Amino acid sequence: MEMDLPQLYRQVAFLPKRDANIVLKEFCINNKWRENAYIADFGSGDGSTTTNILQKYLPISYKKIIGCDKSARMVEFANENYGTDKIEFIMWDITEELPQPLRGAFDHAFSSYTLQRIQEQTFGKDYQSIR
Ligand SMILES: C[S@@+](CC[C@H](N)C(=O)[O-])C[C@H]1O[C@@H](n2cnc3c(N)ncnc32)[C@H](O)[C@@H]1O
Repeated sequence: MEMDLPQLYRQVAFLPKRDANIVLKEFCINNKWRENAYIADFGSGDGSTTTNILQKYLPISYKKIIGCDKSARMVEFANENYGTDKIEFIMWDITEELPQPLRGAFDHAFSSYTLQRIQEQTFGKDYQSIR
């Protein structure tokens, strides 16, 4: 199922937010975030989980979150509603080659309710690009 109705998605996406909170709480017990980190959010959708959930678990020193989504409508909505100087949303299908702005340019990768939607799970050598 294609998913590119950001306004509708925002109204119904309570389960991803609940589960992202659970996962991030557990992850944050060991405080694994780097200082001055760049974080990629794969399949960021309407941007509300990125901003309202992921962001609140990051150390204040974080430099930037880059949300990536293959849907132009999701990316446009996310930038309009949640874009800031520290949160940017770009179009990228994560089964495709990593785009230049992300190469070697992020410390952590987060993803919520997206990877299970991807049939081709054999991601390539680009994933060595995490700093
Ligand atoms: C269920 S939404 C999750 C949105 C957000 N992460 C959340 O937790 O609320 C799944 C998102 O993954 C995106 N998506 C699906 N396949 C993708 C792919 N191959 N590359 C990038 N984004 C993808 C969809 O466009 C959609 O916005």
